[in-house]
Amino acid sequence: MDARYNTLFIGKVLKEYDILDSTNSEAERLLKKNKLAEGTIVYTEQQTLGRGQMGNAWESDRYKNLTFSLILYPKIILPKEQFILNQVVSLGIKDALLEIGLNHVSIKWPNDILIAGKKIAGVLIQNSISGKNISHSIIGIGLNVNQNEFPEGIGNPTSIVLEQEYFELKKLLQILCSCIEKKYLMLLANKQGVIHQEYLDFLFQKDVLCSYQNTNGEEFKGIIKGVKKTGELLMEYQEKIHTFYFKEISFL
Ligand code: BTN
Repeated sequence: MDARYNTLFIGKVLKEYDILDSTNSEAERLLKKNKLAEGTIVYTEQQTLGRGQMGNAWESDRYKNLTFSLILYPKIILPKEQFILNQVVSLGIKDALLEIGLNHVSIKWPNDILIAGKKIAGVLIQNSISGKNISHSIIGIGLNVNQNEFPEGIGNPTSIVLEQEYFELKKLLQILCSCIEKKYLMLLANKQGVIHQEYLDFLFQKDVLCSYQNTNGEEFKGIIKGVKKTGELLMEYQEKIHTFYFKEISFL
């Protein structure tokens, strides 16, 4: 372990598998059996049924990329505040990519991480709510690292090797653990306002006139003005601010 990336709790317990259906699914199974230490990581070299947002699949070549899930118990936040976790994790990944020297990093609402407009990482967060609290959070992260080629039709992907050079997976995992922990500690220190402002600072296409499509298939030009603390996108068009929930808008 490189002392520079020592953490307090994230990544201290690493549950490693050669192959899994999905690290999020394995984390769910493990949590049904036992409580796991906060910061536990479920890690695999290969997923056979990797899950993405909106029921999509997450494709990742064996041994090439990072696919893992992090378990947190964010007792400090209420279910209605859960979008802060998306912000914490997106910012942690953004910091890790900046730390290894990548540029033009942005966060596409709600939590895709982009390099110069191309997707390098995706996040799938599953929060389990019990009463007024989040009993646990499974934070699945897929980060394209050493994959050179991607199948057709999966958007506009990139990877660290395509942007820069080969990077050792475990080393990058340590950097990610450290950067995500720093942001999570800010949340635990009640710095939600600072986290939200930084998220807005890195928001893709903020304040730029761009094309979008609504759920009726209609295209329109609008300007992202921000994101509410509860997670809805704020978009200006036809001289008004409109609110979009996740799945109600696509980026063109
Ligand atoms: C997305 O952008 O659609 C989210 C992708 C999340 C993929 C990761 S890979 C590790 C974890 N396990 C899964 O099955 N999905 C997440």
